[in-house]
Amino acid sequence: MRKINIFDTTLRDGEQSAGVNLNFSEKIEIARQLEKLGADIIEAGFPAASQGDFRSVKEIASLIKDSSVTGLARSVQGDIDAAWEALKAGAEPRLHVFIATSPIHRQYKLKMTKEEIIENAVKTVKYGAERFPVVQWSAEDASRTELDYLAEIVEKVIRAGAKVINIPDTVGYTTPLEYAEIFRYLKEHVPSIDKVHLSAHCHDDLGMAIANSLAAIEAGASQIEGTINGIGERAGNAALEELSVALHTRADHYEAYTGLALGEIKRTSDLVSKLTGMPIPPNKAVVGRNAFAHESGIHQDGVLKEKTTYEIISPELVGISDNSLVLGKHSGRHAFKSRLDELGLSVEGEELNRLFVQFKELADKKKEIADEDLAALVLDEKLSKENSFYQLNSLQITYGTNQVPTATVALKNGNHEVIQEAATGAGSVEALYNTLERCMDTEISLLDYRIQSVGAGRDALAQVYVKIRYQDHETSGRGLHQDVLEASAKAYLNAVNRVIYLGEKEKIAQ
Ligand code: KIV
Ligand code: ZN
Repeated sequence: MRKINIFDTTLRDGEQSAGVNLNFSEKIEIARQLEKLGADIIEAGFPAASQGDFRSVKEIASLIKDSSVTGLARSVQGDIDAAWEALKAGAEPRLHVFIATSPIHRQYKLKMTKEEIIENAVKTVKYGAERFPVVQWSAEDASRTELDYLAEIVEKVIRAGAKVINIPDTVGYTTPLEYAEIFRYLKEHVPSIDKVHLSAHCHDDLGMAIANSLAAIEAGASQIEGTINGIGERAGNAALEELSVALHTRADHYEAYTGLALGEIKRTSDLVSKLTGMPIPPNKAVVGRNAFAHESGIHQDGVLKEKTTYEIISPELVGISDNSLVLGKHSGRHAFKSRLDELGLSVEGEELNRLFVQFKELADKKKEIADEDLAALVLDEKLSKENSFYQLNSLQITYGTNQVPTATVALKNGNHEVIQEAATGAGSVEALYNTLERCMDTEISLLDYRIQSVGAGRDALAQVYVKIRYQDHETSGRGLHQDVLEASAKAYLNAVNRVIYLGEKEKIAQ
C-alpha cells in the first residue's frame, strides 16, 4: 500500500470560488478542522495577494502543528519573500511557487519564451530553497504543455532544489488516460524524478477531476491536491472527501491510502459549506444528504436483508452517525457539555457559559435541540467575536395582505451611538434591507440572498447568506436565528461589519 499525501487547498484555490469570501476567524476555524481531518499539507492562502491573506497565512502557520502549512507565490522574488515572512514560524514551512508552461500561457499571458520561463523558474526555485526546507514547484497549465518541454523544465527545477513537482490540469481539460500518460512520461524522461514527490492538481470543468486524480495515482503520483466539497475556481477542484473514500473503498484496486481521518469528513464538509455559504447538493457523492438514502422499494428490501447489496460506503465511515440523541429545555449543563465534547466541539470557560445561556434560550423556543443546532450555535458564538461594529438592538416588521411592508430597526454602532430608522419595501426582506441601508447612510447593493434551514422541523433555525456590495467591496455575510427576518438582518450586518473590519485592519497594517 502506498501512502498518498493530501494537499488541501480549500483556503486558497477553494477561496477563489466565485462569491466565497472567508474572514480571518473563519479561515482559522477551517484550518483547525483540516488539521483534525489529517491533511498532510494545508495551503492557507496567497500571502502576497493582500494584507488579509498575509495575516491569516501567518496565523495559521503558527497555530497548526500536525500539518505542513504552505502559501502560494508567483515566480517573483517579492512573492517568495512575503511567503517566507508569513510561513517561517510554521512547523514545516513550505513554499508553493508556480509559473505557467503551456504554449497558450507563454504566448498570451506571460509573453515569454520557453528559455525565459526555464531561467525564471530555476532562479526562483533556487531562491526559495535557500529559505524553505520544502519547495513545491507547479507548472501551471501543465496538461496543455509539450511533454518534452515539461520534462526539461521539471528536471531543471528539481536540480534547483524543488522537492515536490505539481502537474496541474489548470483548466480541467485533460482526460484520465492523457493525464496518466503525462505522469508516466515524466517518470521515464526526467532523470531526477525519483528524488521528488509528483503531485496532481485537477479542476472539474469537464467533471473529470476525481477520475484524473485517481489516474495520476495509478501512474505514480504520490500527492493529490484538492478541496473540501470540491469548491474552487469555476467548476471547482477535486473533492478530497470523494478521493479519500474512493481510495479507501477501492484499496483492492489502487493499493494506496491517505492519512485522512475519514470519520472527520462530514464535520469538515459541513463546516466548509456553512462558512463559504456554498450548499452541498443532495446527490453529492460521499457527503450529500441523499448519498446514503435508499428510496426504491427494491433497494430498501435489499438493504434490510443485507446492507452490502446496495451500500458500498457506510455512513459511519465518514462520520454520519444515526445517534439520535437530542437535548431539550430540561437538559443540564453537564449533558450539554458532554454532547459538545462528543461532537468534537470542545468549548470551555466563559465561552461555554455564554453558549449554555444561548442553548437555554433556544430550548425554550425549540422543543428538540439536535446536533446540527449545537454545531450552528457554537460556530456562531466562535465567529461573532470579530466584525461587530454594528449590532442589532431591535427590529420590528409589519406585513399584511394589502399593506405596505414596513421595517423599523435600531442599531448600536462601535461608537456606542444608537441609530434608528424605518423604511418600506415591496416585501418584508426588502423593507428590512432598505431600513438597514438607511442606517448605514450609504448605497449597498444586495447581490445574493439565500436561506436554509438547520435540520428539519417547523421550529428549525434559519441560516441566511447574503452577498452585498458596500464601499467598493463585494462581501458575504451569514446570520443564524429562529426567525428568518432576524437571521436576514444578522446576515446583512455581518456582511457590512466584515467590510468595516477589513478596512480597519488595513489601516492598522499601513
Ligand atoms: O490550477 C492551477 O494551475 C493552480 C496553480 C496555481 C497550482 O491552482
Ligand atoms: Zn488550481
